[in-house]
Amino acid sequence: MTATRGLEGIVATTSSVSSIIDGVLTYRGYNIDDLADYASFEEVVYLLWYGKLPNQKELDGFKAELSKHYALPKQVLDMIKSFPLDKIHPMAAVRTAVSSLGLYDEEADDMNEEANFTKAIRLQAKLASIVAAFSRLRDGLEIIEPKEDLSYAANFLYMLNGEEPDDISEKAFNKALVLHADHELNASTFTARVCVATLSDVYSGVTAAIGALKGPLHGGANERVMRMLSEIGDPENVEEYLKGALERKEKIMGFGHRVYKDGDPRAKHLREMSKQLTHTTGETKWYEMSVKLDELMTNEKGLLPNVDFYSASVYHSLGLKHDLFTPIFAMSRVSGWLAHILEQYDNNRLIRPRAEYIGPDMQKFVAIENR
Ligand code: ACO
Repeated sequence: MTATRGLEGIVATTSSVSSIIDGVLTYRGYNIDDLADYASFEEVVYLLWYGKLPNQKELDGFKAELSKHYALPKQVLDMIKSFPLDKIHPMAAVRTAVSSLGLYDEEADDMNEEANFTKAIRLQAKLASIVAAFSRLRDGLEIIEPKEDLSYAANFLYMLNGEEPDDISEKAFNKALVLHADHELNASTFTARVCVATLSDVYSGVTAAIGALKGPLHGGANERVMRMLSEIGDPENVEEYLKGALERKEKIMGFGHRVYKDGDPRAKHLREMSKQLTHTTGETKWYEMSVKLDELMTNEKGLLPNVDFYSASVYHSLGLKHDLFTPIFAMSRVSGWLAHILEQYDNNRLIRPRAEYIGPDMQKFVAIENR
């Protein structure tokens, strides 16, 4: 038995949720470029879960169903209030709060297909409420009740900021959610599938996935991109910063990808959004620094930006706190995790690979008094 490090190139399952073929990303066969330009996030969630785009009636029904579930159980809100809010990373708070949602859902362990779809809707709605509630409580602010007539994107920004977003912000945020919704068998989705393939419940699967997304090699990279841009400070400093970081053999966050070698198809959308939004805010330096880093990394290392690179300056321009970038990623990706969880239940087999053993040969046990 020989191990394949990081399971690179291993095809671990079949899936009809999303595909990456010849560098093209599709959700259920629809090119991400079209979905990014034309679809609402709710349409995309419906597509991922039900396998087809909704008609207007189906979409209206789905949105109404989602908006019924924004409210968090009082116990979960009280628990968030009890967190050491100013000392913890929001991803740790979101992971713990999502896990606790399962405690107050009587259907948590009901493995019936209908119950699992209902839990998916609850989780999708409540994740936005958890991120917004955490952020407001941390800032000592009152929690804002959702507005049921707003889109998922607009409602989240409303619950976060206490005011409805303008049209440009809503559209940009919606697009970012669409672009992050699913991505074949990425690390967090694989984690979710491994977890529920033991026939564990939906809440456990999503909690496990949040833990995997948190890491800087995966979803945690977007926050770190912003940290890097803030450290660089000015387009003039990019070259020197990059030279030093590469000499120190540091990884440059937001670059490289396990699957895409010719570019991440989501990055071009985010790059354009970054250009437009930084122009609107008047802080074009974030875009300029990003483009300079992009050019230098491409020329010097042959590494291209991934989804996390330009999303950093996009989220910053939307006025979002930097440590909320990864929780916002989770708010979108939970739709993909849930689609994969439902698919896994539908045709389940335990996921249990092998390890190539590289430890000591057979050893003779020695009693503790003789060691
Ligand atoms: N900066 C500098 N060098 C890099 C980078 C980077 N961002 N990415 C890869 N490399 C180098 C590696 O050092 C390695 O070089 P070596 O062969 O000389 O040792 C080579 O390219 C191959 O890199 P691996 O890390 O082995 O590639 P892998 O497929 O395992 O990792 C990953 C992919 C994790 C995305 C990697 O490119 C990385 O760490 N990028 C930065 C973190 C990041 O942006 N993560 C978000 C990914 S997108 C997402 O999850 C949503």
